[in-house]
Amino acid sequence: MKIFASYNIKGGVGKTTCAVNLAYLSAQEGARTLIWDLDPQGGTSYYMCVKPKVEGGAKGLLEGKGDVGQSLRMTGYPNLDLLPADISLRMLDVEIHDMKKPDHAFEKTLKHLAKDYDNLFLDCPPNLSQTAEQIFRIADVLLVPLIPTTLSLRAYNRLVEFLSANRSKKLRVIPFFNQVNMDKPIHRAVVNNVREKHSIFMKNIIPDSSVIEAMGVKRSPVCSFAKESDEAKAFRALWSEMKERAG
Ligand SMILES: Nc1ncnc2c1ncn2[C@@H]1O[C@H](COP(=O)(O)OP(=O)(O)OP(=O)(O)O)[C@@H](O)[C@H]1O
Ligand SMILES: [Mg+2]
Repeated sequence: MKIFASYNIKGGVGKTTCAVNLAYLSAQEGARTLIWDLDPQGGTSYYMCVKPKVEGGAKGLLEGKGDVGQSLRMTGYPNLDLLPADISLRMLDVEIHDMKKPDHAFEKTLKHLAKDYDNLFLDCPPNLSQTAEQIFRIADVLLVPLIPTTLSLRAYNRLVEFLSANRSKKLRVIPFFNQVNMDKPIHRAVVNNVREKHSIFMKNIIPDSSVIEAMGVKRSPVCSFAKESDEAKAFRALWSEMKERAG
């Protein structure tokens, strides 16, 4: 099972939006795909029209109490399941910190899931927390959406610094720009400069678009409700490039 974590220290940059669309595209290709909503805000669960509730809470899930399978929900899209958020996720950092072996926090759950899924997408909460540290340990790919502004780049640089000291060998960091408006001089300058100088950044970008914003009303991935749109094409191109890079 390949683990893609949609992550950024910063909030509101498109982690949930991108996780939902890329997981949808993965499932559409026939890969058995699970998206795990790790954010107590429950954005992914909302987009997938699933109640944010896990029996036994996040702690019970990680401790292997009860059956993980009971918490899984079908999304209505072929090959795409959801492990919903739960309000108890707000305490996840403390719970991981208090575990005897925090570095094995996700082990039991992942072992169970690996039997049934090819791709797991983690929709992560913002912040550089205990939970994030464990996510860096388990993920194969860290998808990092950034809005092209100076503060976003600053947060990204802090992440890179942190990872240079704490990174697992298998983790592949793949940053890309989201919510791009090339009519704005600052967006244009940041996107063009950064992509030219830092080949780690994906070539494909996701535009700032009201079609993408409409996911909140449609409660569905843009790649589903507006398949033929330029925005869906942008996500498909991003996913293709990502798969190529992730190997
Ligand atoms: N490309 C885009 N164009 C227009 N709006 C977008 C785009 N990407 C995300 N948004 C909007 O920006 C807001 C934040 O997006 P999203 O929830 O995906 O970010 P997030 O990083 O998951 O936030 P949080 O840190 O709160 O979890 C949402 O209202 C979403 O609809
Ligand atoms: Mg989110």
